[in-house]
Amino acid sequence: MENPIKKVLVSEEEINKRVAEMAKEISDEYRGKDLIVVGILKGAVIFLSELVKQIEFPVFMDFMAVSSYGKSSISTGEVRIIKDLDFSVEGKDILIVEDIIDTGLTLNYLKDILGKRGAKSVKICTLLDKPDRRTVGVNIDFLGFEIPDEFVVGYGLDFDEKYRNFPFVGALKEEVYNILD
Ligand code: IMP
Ligand code: MG
Repeated sequence: MENPIKKVLVSEEEINKRVAEMAKEISDEYRGKDLIVVGILKGAVIFLSELVKQIEFPVFMDFMAVSSYGKSSISTGEVRIIKDLDFSVEGKDILIVEDIIDTGLTLNYLKDILGKRGAKSVKICTLLDKPDRRTVGVNIDFLGFEIPDEFVVGYGLDFDEKYRNFPFVGALKEEVYNILD
């Protein structure tokens, strides 16, 4: 197969170093609390796995899978929950772990809904942020890397379900994603 990557934006070494730093930041923030780490499937799985191994106390792990509604309702930012949490969030400290924040709609919705379910706190941890694409404000509490407005894959992120297992974050060649147009 021809190499689908135009450019590596964040190398494996850079990610490993930053994930370790983020785990330390999270450990300092939540020490002594019962923390539920909520991963958003599937993109956050690799990041979450590396992150939680380096948190310095036991945490609970749970997962949600979501999908955006059709383009027509994109402005409402409503997302459909495909798989909900196993745990109740009531009175709990929640850290949502996501692969990338793009428009911000997904995270804005999830933060809102977990707050309404009575979580004590809801914070956001994302590996990547594409601020150029934001349509709704999202406060990011723990951020790995800010990246330019390019479609990226690897370290959990996919294009058409492919390339999630690449150990770096790379921009996809235009000719790879244009074939679906
Ligand atoms: P948003 O912030 O609601 O627009 O959506 C974020 C979601 O869009 C992420 O969880 C990814 O699944 C997906 N996404 C956004 N940008 C990219 C990208 O560059 N590569 C792969 N997936 C992306
Ligand atoms: Mg995703």
